[in-house]
Amino acid sequence: MKIKRWLVGVCLLAAGVVLIAGSFAVLSAAAQTSAKQAAPAAAKDEMIARGKYVMNAGSCHDCHSPKTMTAQGPVPDATRILSGHPAGEKLPPFKKEDIGPEKWVLFSPGFTASVGPWGVVCSQNLTPDENTGIGLWTEEMFKSALRTGKHMGMGRPISPPMPWAAVGGLSDEDLAAVYAYLKSIPPIKNAVPGPLSVEDYLAK
Ligand code: HEC
Repeated sequence: MKIKRWLVGVCLLAAGVVLIAGSFAVLSAAAQTSAKQAAPAAAKDEMIARGKYVMNAGSCHDCHSPKTMTAQGPVPDATRILSGHPAGEKLPPFKKEDIGPEKWVLFSPGFTASVGPWGVVCSQNLTPDENTGIGLWTEEMFKSALRTGKHMGMGRPISPPMPWAAVGGLSDEDLAAVYAYLKSIPPIKNAVPGPLSVEDYLAK
């Protein structure tokens, strides 16, 4: 009887050890999987935060975000962040004689459109909208546009006042972070018109 009880005790103990070891294995496997999933997500969040920081410091909002006017001047409109010059916003009238290399350069009150010897130029929509923003641009196209000064990295020259050479001087990591941030913001449909010469604009 005594031996039997002793045997049962040993068996129960062994079963307990196996159970505990088993649950440790399951737990640690689960922890490893969630750590594996958490690491890239955390790295992505960090990259997006870096891109946001670079864009704030790089004054991208000055030209690319529509504004609301306040007593302190124009401030980016949080509901339309980085969506470029509002397509429906008409520019105030101006005279051709006032524009030229030795004359004036004009900016719309929200800084999203300018008129100068380079023509009438509106800031582009940088949100990830597929038809009117950069939704279909690859990271390579984005970097190449800013490094070569060519529209989408291969088209017409990017017009002033876009400071593409300065922005293109950012490191590969910073440009990748800016791209990741732009892909993370809400897409906004806004078909910004392309640049026009002053003559073509006034003849419209
Ligand atoms: C002084 C105004 C100004 C500032 C500041 C500015 N941009 Fe622009 N940006 C423009 C204008 C205007 C265009 C449109 C030029 C054109 O259509 O040729 C443009 C176009 C672009 C384009 C599209 C290029 C292409 O291939 O057509 C990208 C991308 C861009 N800007 C990114 C940025 C980023 C990122 C920043 C901040 C680091 C920034 N811009 C700051 C005015 C500005």
